[in-house]
Amino acid sequence: MSDTPRRPGDNTQGNRLDPWFDAYAERAHNLRASEIRALFSVVSRPEVVSLAGGMPNLKDLPLPRLADTAHKLILDHGAQALQYGSGQGWEILRDQLVDVMTYDGITGADPDDIVVTTGSQQALDLMAELFIDAGDVVLAESPSYVGALGCFRARQADVVHVDLDEDGLVPESLEHTIRGLKAQGRAVKFLYTIPNFQNPAGVTLSEERRPIIADICLREHVLILEDNPYGLLGFDSDPLPALKSYSPEGVVYLGSVSKMFAPGMRIGWAFAPHAIRDKLILASEAAILSPTMFGQMFLSQYLADYDWYGQVKSFRSMYHERCEAMLGALAEYMPDCSWTTPSGGFYTWVRLPDGLDAKSMLPRAVKAQVAYVSGTAFYYDGRGADHMRLSFCFPSPEEIREGVRRLASVVNAEKDLVEMFGAGFVPLDGHHDGPATPSSSAH
Ligand SMILES: Cc1ncc(COP(=O)(O)O)c(C=O)c1O
Repeated sequence: MSDTPRRPGDNTQGNRLDPWFDAYAERAHNLRASEIRALFSVVSRPEVVSLAGGMPNLKDLPLPRLADTAHKLILDHGAQALQYGSGQGWEILRDQLVDVMTYDGITGADPDDIVVTTGSQQALDLMAELFIDAGDVVLAESPSYVGALGCFRARQADVVHVDLDEDGLVPESLEHTIRGLKAQGRAVKFLYTIPNFQNPAGVTLSEERRPIIADICLREHVLILEDNPYGLLGFDSDPLPALKSYSPEGVVYLGSVSKMFAPGMRIGWAFAPHAIRDKLILASEAAILSPTMFGQMFLSQYLADYDWYGQVKSFRSMYHERCEAMLGALAEYMPDCSWTTPSGGFYTWVRLPDGLDAKSMLPRAVKAQVAYVSGTAFYYDGRGADHMRLSFCFPSPEEIREGVRRLASVVNAEKDLVEMFGAGFVPLDGHHDGPATPSSSAH
């Protein structure tokens, strides 16, 4: 192709789809559309019951009052709210976040060790930027949050999964994995863990295991990255103490207002040991200069003037009702599957009958107007096809029941096929009408 642009002094020619293909950094070739994002366009059709996304349900927020607060904020403090702010985050908000963390058993935090970020997703990205060189090992639960795996993949990490059961991360598996890696001369950069109402498994790390996990990591000199966006959303219990409360110097704790208030705020934070906090500020300034000043001031007023914890409690009971609807419908319609029983959060993790493949079944589910996320999205190594993540946060209890009923008919049809033809059988149309498969990577 004679009209393909070339880099100066370079003989490469890109390819037909992207003339700049050869110009990307090596790590850019590791970027993938997550299986969840690939689903977005289909599942947002109104006729589809989506048990796929993890969107919080915001219908109970006091929108007219919030509108007044925003109006007043601009009127009274617009010149500050619309200005750049500190790279570390607004001091007044950081003070308030110290109070928010007391609900997770973190007391006496120094607001100077908090860095406000653009959602906890940015904090994950900053941690990856600071700690991961190509080939470095990161430990994560088995399964783990797709958005974190994406960050680690983009930095060319080697993610090693550690066992997870109904009581959360398994200490013996953690210790065994760290020792095995060390024996191979491979250092572990950090353990990434979601102790509360885990995404995607819905399980919570038991109180007994918390000090044990913290101790293993201290002893083995493995930093913990504790991601806690769902911590306040226990259905009928207050949060268990954060890992950070057991090991203040060994844990970087990530918080977020996305699930306790609203994800559109795009505000999260990292509470880190002092030296790491210095690096986080520098990396964040390099990435975004400063977090949203308007958002921080708005959030600060929300925390100060509203009964924000009362709002959290009302979210809890709404999600509890939805979770009950889902577990009830699973018991009624899908007795051949098994699933976790969450005590909070948004998700349950469903195991399919033997021989079924959640990834190849997905197009047929979408055709039956129900969506889920295949378990494969939550592993680094292609495992997970025997599971799917169902979320109960957004649809109404009636929609959840209907969604599970539709899903059960797909699962039953699939089971019949597997019984008749054996596992691995995929109807011809299965591969072709499947917009839900991830878009292919550059490589
Ligand atoms: C486990 C986990 N961590 C982090 C995030 C990112 O949240 P946010 O960037 O909105 O704070 C999510 C979002 O769903 C999540 O489930």
